[in-house]
Parts: sequence; C-alpha cells; structure tokens
Amino acid sequence: MGKTSLPKKSSSSASAHDSIESILAENRRFAPSKQFSSRARIGSMADYEKLYRASIKDPEKFFAKQAEELTWFKPWRKVIQPPAKKGSFEGTQWFVGGKINASYNCIDRHLETARKNKAALIWEGEPAGAFGFEQRTLTYQQLHREVSKCANVLRSLGIKTGDRVAIYMGMTPELAIAVLACARIGAPHTVIFGGFSSEAIRDRVNDCDARLIVTADGGWRRGNIVELKKNVDQALSTESSGTPVSGCPSVEKVLVVKRTAHGVDMVPGRDVWWHDAMADASADCPAVPLDSEHPLYILYTSGTTGKPKGIVHTTAGYLLGTYLTTKYIFDIRDEDIYWCSADIGWVTGHSYILYGPLSCGATVLMYEGAPMFPAPDRFWDIIERHRVSIFYTAPTAIRSFVRAGNEHPEKHDLSSLRLLGTVGEPINPEAWMWYHTLIGKGKCPIVDTWWQTETGAIMISPLPGAVPTRPGSATLPFFGVAPQVVRKDGFLCNPNEGGYLVITKPWPSMLRGIYKDPERFHKQYFSEYPGIYFTGDGARRDKNGYFWIMGRVDDVINVSGHRLGTMEVESALVGNPAVAEAAVVGRPDEIKGSALVAFVTLKQGWPPDEALREKLREHVALAIGSIARPDDIRFTDSLPKTRSGKIMRRLLRELASTGAVKGDTTTLEDFSVLEKLRTAEEE
Ligand code: WT7
Repeated sequence: MGKTSLPKKSSSSASAHDSIESILAENRRFAPSKQFSSRARIGSMADYEKLYRASIKDPEKFFAKQAEELTWFKPWRKVIQPPAKKGSFEGTQWFVGGKINASYNCIDRHLETARKNKAALIWEGEPAGAFGFEQRTLTYQQLHREVSKCANVLRSLGIKTGDRVAIYMGMTPELAIAVLACARIGAPHTVIFGGFSSEAIRDRVNDCDARLIVTADGGWRRGNIVELKKNVDQALSTESSGTPVSGCPSVEKVLVVKRTAHGVDMVPGRDVWWHDAMADASADCPAVPLDSEHPLYILYTSGTTGKPKGIVHTTAGYLLGTYLTTKYIFDIRDEDIYWCSADIGWVTGHSYILYGPLSCGATVLMYEGAPMFPAPDRFWDIIERHRVSIFYTAPTAIRSFVRAGNEHPEKHDLSSLRLLGTVGEPINPEAWMWYHTLIGKGKCPIVDTWWQTETGAIMISPLPGAVPTRPGSATLPFFGVAPQVVRKDGFLCNPNEGGYLVITKPWPSMLRGIYKDPERFHKQYFSEYPGIYFTGDGARRDKNGYFWIMGRVDDVINVSGHRLGTMEVESALVGNPAVAEAAVVGRPDEIKGSALVAFVTLKQGWPPDEALREKLREHVALAIGSIARPDDIRFTDSLPKTRSGKIMRRLLRELASTGAVKGDTTTLEDFSVLEKLRTAEEE
C-alpha cells in the first residue's frame, strides 16, 4: 500500500491488427458528416488528439485556461492541489483559493449579455391544459428573479451557508429553481428522485441531517398523481421512527409547491406553501462567493453494500467539468434547443439539465412526465413542436421506442435534430442503429457518453464532428481523463482483452468523498488499485484505443440505466416478516438491460404462493421505490452457499438467466441438483 498502482505493461504482446482497410472502411461508414465537422468546435481527429495530449501532459495549464471561461469572484491560487499522502490522487483539490458560485455562473453572468432575454428553461407538463399541453418558459432574467426569491425564502426558513436541503419533487421548473437557489447561498442540496419511497427519503435525509425539505403536493406521471407530500409526511412521521420523535429529527421546515392541487395536509408551524413564501420574498439575493471546494451537493447512489452512499461534489471543479463537456461533447450553441430526458433526481439531470447547459447559457427543454404518455409518440411530438436540436436519452428508452414501433417517430418531423446522445448503460448496436437511422436520419452524430454519479461529468465519449463513432463504443476519453483497462493484478490488458476500467489521473469534477464516510470512500474507489480510481465497470479497449464498456463487475445491477445495489434489495426483502433469506441477481432483459430476480427462502409457516410473491414485490417497491420492484421472485428452500457461507451469486445469475422458471409456481427450486456446480465454483 501507499505505492500508486499505475498500470504496468503486460508481458504478452498485443494481438494482431485488423487490416487497415477494414478499419478505414468502418471509419468512412461512421465518420462525422462534413456538414457537422465544418462548424464543430473540434472539427477533426487531429485537433482532438492535439488538445487531449496537451490536457494530459500539463493538466494545470490546460484547465487553468479553460477555467477562465467561468466567472470567478476571486482567482484561484493553485489549479491542482495533490493530497498530502503521496502516491495516490485520493483527496486531490482543484482551483484552491478561488471563490466562485455555480448559480451565478448558470444565471447572473448571462444577464450581462443578449442571453438575458433568451429562454433558459422551456418546460412542458405532462397533462394538457386549455391550449394543448401545459407549457411555461423562463428567460434567464425570469429564472434569475425566481432563484433569487427562492434563495431568500430558504434563508427566511433558517437555512444558512453549509446547511443541507433535501429536494423531493417532480420535474417542474420549481425543482430547477430550488436547486439553483441552494447553490446561490451555498446550502448543499440533496435531490431525492421523486420515484423513491418514504423510507428512502428518511434514510437520505437522516444521513445528511437536512434541515429543510422542498417538495410538492404531487406530481404528474402517466396521468396519475404521485403523492410526493404524503411520502414526505410519512418519512417525517413519528410512527415511521417507532418513537415519539420525528422520523427525520433534523428537519425543521417543509416547503411545498402546489402542482396538482389535490389537497394535502399541511402541518402548522412546519409546512409552508411555496407560493405564499415566494409572494413576500425579495428578488434581491446576491450569489455568495464560495470556496472552490465548497460542497455543492450530495447525491445518493447505490453501492455494493447496504445503504446508498452520499456522493459529494464540490463547486469549481464540478462546474468546470459539466461546463466543458456540455460545450464540447454536445457542441452546444446559443441557437440550440437542448433536451436531456433524464430526471433531475439522477446525476444526469444535475449535470446535463442544470449545471452544464445553463453555465453554457443554453436553452434547456424540461419535460415533466412519462415518455409514452398519453401516446407512444410523445417524445417525437415534443421534438417536433419545440424544434429540439440536441437530444440526450438512455438506451433503455430507445429500446422501448424500438418495441413501440417505427410508425411513431415516422409521423413526426424530426429534421430539427442535429446531435443525439445516450447514457446510463452500454447501448446495443441494434438500438444504436435504430437511433441513428430512424431518429437521426443518418445525419446526426451519436455521442455515447460513459460516466458515473461519482465522476460528475462525462469521461469517455466521442467529440461530435471529430471522432468517428462505432455502434456500442463510447470511443475515446475527454480532455484530462486518463482511463485504462487493467487485469486483476494491475497489469494493462492487451487490445480487446476484457478487464477493469480504472482512471489513473485526477479530473476536476471527481467526487470529493462519500458524505461522512471517508473509510468507505477509500475502500470503494482507491483500494482495489492503490492510489488510482476504480470505476466498478468492466471494459475492453480495441486496437484503435476505443473503449467498449461491458457493465458492472460488482454487486451493482443496472436496471433501465439506474443503479441498484443487490444488498439494498436483499435487506428490503428480509425486512418482511415472511422472509428468512434473500439473494438478488440480475438477468439480461431486452428493454431494461437487466431485470431483478430475487431468490427467497421463507420462514416456517409462510406459503410460497402467488399472493405472497406479489406482496414481496410490493414490499420492496414500498421500501425503496418502484424501480427496485423485483421482476421475478423465486422461492427456494435454501440458497446455494460456499462452505464459508457466501451466497454463490454466479450460480444464481446463471440460473436466473438460463434456467427455465418452473411452471408450477408453488414448486421450490431444488438446489441439490447444483451440487456439482457448487463444488466447481469453490475450487
Ligand atoms: C454506471 C453509472 C452517469 C449517468 C447515468 C448513470 C453505466 C453509464 C454508460 C455508457 C456503458 C454506462 C456504468 C456506470 N454507464 N453510462 N455510456 N456505456 N455503461 O449514472 O447511476 O452513477 O451509473 O452506469 O456501469 O458505472 P450512475
């Protein structure tokens, strides 16, 4: 330990190269169009390589130059501050000594330009009103006013710089306003995805001791009301804590946006209506100059063990990372209408609905509801009506559009599109080709962007107009990013040899820690290969140096582009009185990427029947949220374990993906037949 494990060269030689002709043919096939390249910021592979090399050779110089494009209250002293402990980049700090504010960079600075009257947010609600679907537009000036007022409201409710604020809302402009208001006064936000349960809210709020929760009476999803306020009430209730104190003792106030107006209980002294508070608030609230390393937000994400971990991002480095990637990877322009279909409850929404595009002064489209509501063509309809030019979505969404049928996009004029993006999971070449042909009409570059909650910003992606794409490959690293594929022993893999994806140099938007858990931070990311960052993903690198991400190598399952820890689902299951033991694995699924299969042993006296199966699925949905509801529950009288008592997940995975589910639902899995396999795995 202590010594950095920079990947070593492997002993065996690289495998033979493909014929140059075949590579050139592929390059021609997926080359950026002349039309795109001629106006792209980085218009050729040579330009990309030149800048990339410079960024790796002298990152301080490179990022200092880029950071001048942000607006600073006070310049930094040092671009990269290495940690005290030698031989590791864990704990690296960026732009030390500088003062900056993310909200100011996303809003105020645009008011000094013609952008002040430009749309910052174009919002479309799920339901229709009297004049078609509900719509609202906020110019940069209007956004500035709302965010300033909201920041004053937060202050009037007792929030000071450094206090944590939880935000649990649907996708309405108030969510964006609340996030930017927190950033304005330096109160780290923790956005909790609106699909999470009251238990999930409680865990997160208590982990970071949030003093205030911003929520809404409800949200619209697939024509139904999501009971957001009720879930918050439940999280705060004394019965949820099982004691006479609140389930979330740190929470003093709840700020409630009226969205669905369907009637909710307001607790006097604790709950405040957003519109009442905003009516009285002053619109004057200068952004607070914050240290570069002031925490901007905490975002909880699933890990390999137990409860979700609070990923901490700080201000300057994160802002620079999201700003630069939005500028170069989405090639964003003032005239673009940019739409990222993610929810702000996930990191994609933080970085690529809010901080990245707004710091670039872009026009961001924000949509409240479900993709196929009220009809399967809703997304294409939105693109046509708003003239969306850049569209960023997830492979799982693309696969469900493929299944819904070509007639839906074909009904619409999608000619405004000029660039497409995907994120969240590996994209299968069929879905890529469909996206390319049916949506991009063969003329839009596709940026397949690999990154993580932890990385803050995109790490591996083609630069459109410069880097030829390959269906299924995220291609090459962004400026300053140094990824490698290594073997278990830390040696570099040969071309096309599968291994572990690591990052060998610090980058500005890297996570700064796991909230209140430095040990877990170290263990999770910097101990597998001492001193360098372990991603948890498997990958291979081809002979062109392109990266092909193969998915998680740990006990995290990627369900529809969302991360779920098997342990989290298992502990939800054993929280049910009927369950003795549970093991959760992923099984390949055509739409979701992975589906969740739970193997469950029951306590004495519980019948392994359909009713209980349904009850357990519901139990997990209540404990975590619908995204965690197991697709299959398989009852068994025991779980296959090694002699040391470890559950043999590989075996269960195999069984879940290949083993025919027994028709008779009351039959228990019989693991005795697996005796042989068991012995094999132990050896
Ligand atoms: C995990 C991170 C970062 C935005 C959304 C997910 C997988 C992400 C890709 C991609 C293949 C991808 C990885 C990664 N992933 N993008 N383009 N190709 N896999 O954020 O919830 O933190 O999940 O998503 O497995 O580790 P997240």
